[in-house]
Amino acid sequence: MRLKNLAIPAGAVFAPMAGLSDAACRHLMAAHGAVWTVSEMASAKAITYGDAKSVALLRDTLYGGPNGLFAAQLFGAEPDTVAGAIGILRDKGVKFDLLDLNMGCPAPKITAGGAGSRLLLDPALCGRMVAAARRALGDDTPLTVKMRLGWDAGHCTAVEVAKACEAAGADLLTVHGRTREQMYAPPVDAAAIAAVKRAVRIPVLANGDITTPGSALAILQTTGCDGVMIGRGALGDPWLFERVNAALAGEPVPPPPTLAQKMAAMRQQIYDMCEDKGEWTAMPQARGHAMHYMKKLRGAAALRRYCSMLEHFSDVDRLIDAAFRCQE
Ligand SMILES: Cc1cc2nc3c(=O)[nH]c(=O)nc-3n(C[C@H](O)[C@H](O)[C@H](O)COP(=O)(O)O)c2cc1C
Repeated sequence: MRLKNLAIPAGAVFAPMAGLSDAACRHLMAAHGAVWTVSEMASAKAITYGDAKSVALLRDTLYGGPNGLFAAQLFGAEPDTVAGAIGILRDKGVKFDLLDLNMGCPAPKITAGGAGSRLLLDPALCGRMVAAARRALGDDTPLTVKMRLGWDAGHCTAVEVAKACEAAGADLLTVHGRTREQMYAPPVDAAAIAAVKRAVRIPVLANGDITTPGSALAILQTTGCDGVMIGRGALGDPWLFERVNAALAGEPVPPPPTLAQKMAAMRQQIYDMCEDKGEWTAMPQARGHAMHYMKKLRGAAALRRYCSMLEHFSDVDRLIDAAFRCQE
C-alpha cells in the first residue's frame, strides 16, 4: 500500500489505546510486525493551550529507529483547533509518519465536548475537520481517520462520514465495526464495514475483535478491506502480529509463544516503560499490561491479583516466578 509518498509494507496495524499504547507497547508491537502503530489520543485543544503533557503523548521516544511507522492521533471538535494543534506539533519538531484523527472515541468526557464519536452525528463537520487538518499538514503527510459505524442504531452515518472525509483529503480510513452506543461489546458488524469500503476509493482498514489469524482473514474476506487494525488482541500477545501477518501473506502461521518468551517480553516491556516515564508513573500502568500476559495461564486469577500489587520493577521478577510455579 502507498499513502502519499509513504510505502507501507503489508501487515496488520496496531490500534491506538489510551492508557495502554505508550511508546514501550508500540515498540514491542512493531518488533513483532505491526506495520504502523498509533499514539494514544491527544487533545488538540489542550495542545493549543500549551499543555506539554499532550504534546509529550505524541512524541515517539525512538522515532525513526527500527520501530515501524508511527501515527500521531489527535481528537478535537473544531477544525481550526485541530489545524492549530498540527501547526504547534510541527513548530515543536514532533515527528510522525501519519496523522490520525479520532472520530470514534465513545468516552463521555470526550463526546461531551463534541469530539470522538460525537463527530459522527455531523458528517459535514467531519469533512471540515479533515480539510483543516489537510491544510495544516501540507500535501506530503498521510492523513487517516479512525471512526465507528455511527452514534447509535438510529444514526449509522459511517458511509456519509467516509465519503465526506475522502472528499476532504483523507488518505485512509479505519472502521471499528460498532456504533458509539455499542461501546466494545456486541459482535462487530462486518457488513457495515463492507458498506464503507464499497463507498470510497481510499484504503479502508477493518477493526474490532481480531484475535486470531482466522478472524483477520475472515473480516478481510467479508468486508473487502485493504487491511486490519488490531488492538486488545495483541495485549500480552504481541506475537499475534506475526501470526496474522503470516496468514495474510499465505505463509505457515508460527506456533504460539512459550511461557518463557511471554514472560521475557512482559519484563522487557515493563522495563522500557520504567525507563521512559519512571517507575512511579510506569508501575501502576504496568499492572494492566501484566494482567494481559497472565491470560489463559493456570492460576490466572491468583496471578492477576499479584499483578494488581506490582509496585516496583523488582516485583515483576517475583510475578514471573509465581507464573512459572503455577504451571508446574
Ligand atoms: C482501553 C482502550 C483505549 C482506547 N483508546 C483509543 C484511542 O485513544 N484512540 C482510538 O482511536 N481508539 C481507541 N480505542 C479503540 C481501539 O483503537 C479499537 O478501535 C477497539 O479496541 C476495537 O479494536 P480491538 O477489538 O482490536 O481492540 C481504545 C480501546 C480501548 C479498549
